[in-house]
Amino acid sequence: MSEKATLVVGDAHYDLPIIEGSEGERAVDIRQLRARSGLITLDPGYGNTGSCESAITFIDGDRGILRYRGIPIEQFAEAPNFVEVAWLLIFGHLPTREEYRAFAADLTAQADLDENMKHHFEGFPRSAPPMAILSAMINALSCFHPELFELEDPERFRMAAARLISKIRTIAAYAYRHSRGLPFIYPDPRLRYVPNFLHMLFSQPYVQWHCDEAVCEALNLVLILHADHEQNCSTSTVRMVGSSQANLFASCAAGVCALWGPLHGGANVEVLTMLEQIHGGNLTAEEYVRLAKDRDSKVRLMGFGHRVYKNFDPRARMLAEVAERLLARLGQDDPLLQIARRLEEIALRDPYFVDRQLYPNVDFYSGIILRAIGIPTNMFTVIFAIGRLPGWIAHWWEQRQGDGSRIARPRQIYVGDRERPYVAMDERL
Ligand code: CMC
Repeated sequence: MSEKATLVVGDAHYDLPIIEGSEGERAVDIRQLRARSGLITLDPGYGNTGSCESAITFIDGDRGILRYRGIPIEQFAEAPNFVEVAWLLIFGHLPTREEYRAFAADLTAQADLDENMKHHFEGFPRSAPPMAILSAMINALSCFHPELFELEDPERFRMAAARLISKIRTIAAYAYRHSRGLPFIYPDPRLRYVPNFLHMLFSQPYVQWHCDEAVCEALNLVLILHADHEQNCSTSTVRMVGSSQANLFASCAAGVCALWGPLHGGANVEVLTMLEQIHGGNLTAEEYVRLAKDRDSKVRLMGFGHRVYKNFDPRARMLAEVAERLLARLGQDDPLLQIARRLEEIALRDPYFVDRQLYPNVDFYSGIILRAIGIPTNMFTVIFAIGRLPGWIAHWWEQRQGDGSRIARPRQIYVGDRERPYVAMDERL
């Protein structure tokens, strides 16, 4: 007999099925709870709520494990490139040589933006946050490709995915060029995904930017390590918006907005600000950690802690190594890396962080790598978005394909006023 949980409310007993995932994660299935008992569950922040079944990414936060489609994240350190990982996440298997070539060719063919889209950039002030531009432009893409609204056909979906993964890079680069008052640099079809992006960021007309191999490898790995992380805030947002059957572009534009916040993707900017503050001499690392422990200060040790990981975030370990390697290769001696190492050392010995199981997360070291490459701080979260896009697309598609994809519509416990009459304006006290 399959296992059950029993909920006892007064005299009533409700048997609820227990379901188990392929890695042994167990859940009480409450799909019938309200219909049978009139009760709902309350779980602000969803710390105990599984919103879906998914076959894309597995995390064991207690053991510091992260796998994309079953493959441990550490195995992506050397071999593949970001495009291959994007394919894996979206389509569920490593691409054959043929599949890879065809997808890469689609990405190359789709890199340009419609010339009319370029005018939209001019409407933004130079100081516009690049995440605002990114979200607006991804949404605007749907105006230029309305044929891709209906994506039930897998071939059309594949084309839409290629379009989005390719164009997000062009949009990101144009947002940066616009903020600097620099001319847009068109994508170069001879270049691969990462070098092409760096070319659009840093080349000048007629002067091609030389991409150091170590820089390309580091950015490639940064993108891979951000590519998916199951039901995080932005991915859940993409699924939420997609559940209304909104198109892929609109859903991913919403994902960008969710990622923007400082508790999510925006943390990589906050980490840099924190490291710079300490470097500027306003505070020592010890003082900063003290402040982060003080509830009244509202300060947090940015780049530390995670809802799921109660152990080292494996991405943070890998990024710390990449940061060391890249700085050595470029001959840079960035004092912020030493400060980050010092903060980590202090925090990992401090009972406050130990007891709460707070470890460095993906955002702790990524900014140091991006800074070494020459990417400005306000573009850090945009880089996160480029990396996370394949994950968003994979989840959007998985949900579309699933037979149980209902519109996401949580309930609430109402705690406002009971019924009361409307009072005319001049009768109000
Ligand atoms: N510095 C100081 N205290 C912290 C921190 C931190 N970075 N993170 C959590 N805590 C404390 C928190 O105050 C609480 O203490 P208490 O039990 O005394 O009330 C306890 O640890 C549990 O924290 P929580 O806020 O309930 O945990 P959460 O799962 O809701 O939040 C988090 C997770 C990532 C939002 C949080 O750890 C945080 O704000 N970290 C800093 C921001 C950050 O680095 N975000 C990036 C997350 S990883 C990548 C991504 O998702 O984009």
